[in-house]
Amino acid sequence: MNEEQRPIGVVGVGYVGLVTGVCLAHLGHRVVCLDVDEARIEALRRGTVPIYEPGLEKLVDDNAARLSFTTSHDELLAQCRVLFVAVDTPPTPSGDADLSRVRRVVDEIAHRGGRRLLVMKSTVPVGTGAHIMADLEGDGVDGITYVSNPEFLREGAAIEDFLSPDRIVIGSFSDEAGDEVEALYRGVDAPVVRTSVPTAEMIKYASNAFLATKISFVNEIANVCEEVGADVRTVAEGMGLDHRIGAHFLHAGIGFGGSCFPKDVQALKQLAGNSGYHFQLLTAVIEVNHLQKRRVIGKLKHHLGNLRGARIALLGLTFKPHTDDLREAASIVLAARLRGEGATVTAHDPMLSPGSHELFPGVDLFAEPLEAVRDADALVVVTEWPEFLRLDWAAVKEAMRRPVVIDGRNVLDPDALREAGFTYEGVGVAGLPEAVRSGSS
Ligand SMILES: NC(=O)c1ccc[n+]([C@@H]2O[C@H](COP(=O)([O-])OP(=O)(O)OC[C@H]3O[C@@H](n4cnc5c(N)ncnc54)[C@H](O)[C@@H]3O)[C@@H](O)[C@H]2O)c1
Repeated sequence: MNEEQRPIGVVGVGYVGLVTGVCLAHLGHRVVCLDVDEARIEALRRGTVPIYEPGLEKLVDDNAARLSFTTSHDELLAQCRVLFVAVDTPPTPSGDADLSRVRRVVDEIAHRGGRRLLVMKSTVPVGTGAHIMADLEGDGVDGITYVSNPEFLREGAAIEDFLSPDRIVIGSFSDEAGDEVEALYRGVDAPVVRTSVPTAEMIKYASNAFLATKISFVNEIANVCEEVGADVRTVAEGMGLDHRIGAHFLHAGIGFGGSCFPKDVQALKQLAGNSGYHFQLLTAVIEVNHLQKRRVIGKLKHHLGNLRGARIALLGLTFKPHTDDLREAASIVLAARLRGEGATVTAHDPMLSPGSHELFPGVDLFAEPLEAVRDADALVVVTEWPEFLRLDWAAVKEAMRRPVVIDGRNVLDPDALREAGFTYEGVGVAGLPEAVRSGSS
């Protein structure tokens, strides 16, 4: 088999790996995907996509002829020399990134021998590529080349982000290896940043840390807005029109969650600390994010008094809309805090079945928003699913015991809700309509 004909391997077929594999197939490559999760591979072989990502099912279907799925390393390595690694790197209790899965993949590949090009898509701390190569050299393994190719996709828009990214970052120890990876992206129109492995690793962490900083920054501005009667939505608009600032990630809310920001910010802070540098800014970013969720409890108490016995409905539980991912979702902390306060918690999320869920002990999940808010003393918009913008608010008011709405994502229309008889509170959205505060009405 000459190199052009060989399929590309993808190890770890979660949100990043599956999207990578399917998009590489879409670009014309044959792709073999390996995962240790047998049920996941079985499902994919049957054509069932085990995660929710808009457009993914169709793309898997369209490219089925170029895709195969396996749990066998022998089968993978018999065919593939280039291997994308996209296993998870969750946080350890110390806040460092857990590299055990990455290490396991490298060991599986190394001990089977042969010449391989490892392309690291998993987010790994700066220095990981160099450590892996030094360890392989120490073990006498010399057939492995390593390239860092961090992934920046957003769940919910992952396919678009992979096929039309803002940039492709390729960090390599040799130009030749970098060229080979760059060639695999033929057909994707994006600036390519070619650099060293540690710099590529740092670009990923610095990017996520910066976006998280922007979110915590605007959330603090929102909190000050609440004190002084300004409206953060207009403040953010006015700021974002400045090209040096940019409009993205200036949306105040109850904080960031998900599988990347919390762990990557923590890991960068930890990495700096391990190297002897105290990253003060990130320490504050993390703390602001924790406190932001808890402010919802304060707002509920402000309107309802003691929450013992109160019935609170949470709308949206996934960490953001258009995904089924619940990792580090704000809803988990919020539900637990509310239960701790003695409240009864109900919830609805378009991705979750009615009944109960292990991440939300004691919380009743309902199939419809209107069922979740029935007899509630307050509802909290936790995740900005578009369907919540189109709710029949007259019916919601009718169903609730008390018409209190805490809009944790600033997606509802405060004036419309107040007119409909609700007590509305957003994040950094002043208590009175702007026209009233400014004296023009
Ligand atoms: N999810 C995102 O939005 C996103 C975006 C950019 C980067 N990343 C990074 O990409 C990496 C993967 O993230 P994800 O969200 O796709 O994770 P995920 O948990 O959805 O998927 C990881 C997959 O790897 C498999 N796996 C674990 N150990 C394995 C092994 N030894 N061999 C083969 N397969 C194994 C798991 O079974 C799982 O299917 C992480 O480092 C993450 O930080 C994620």
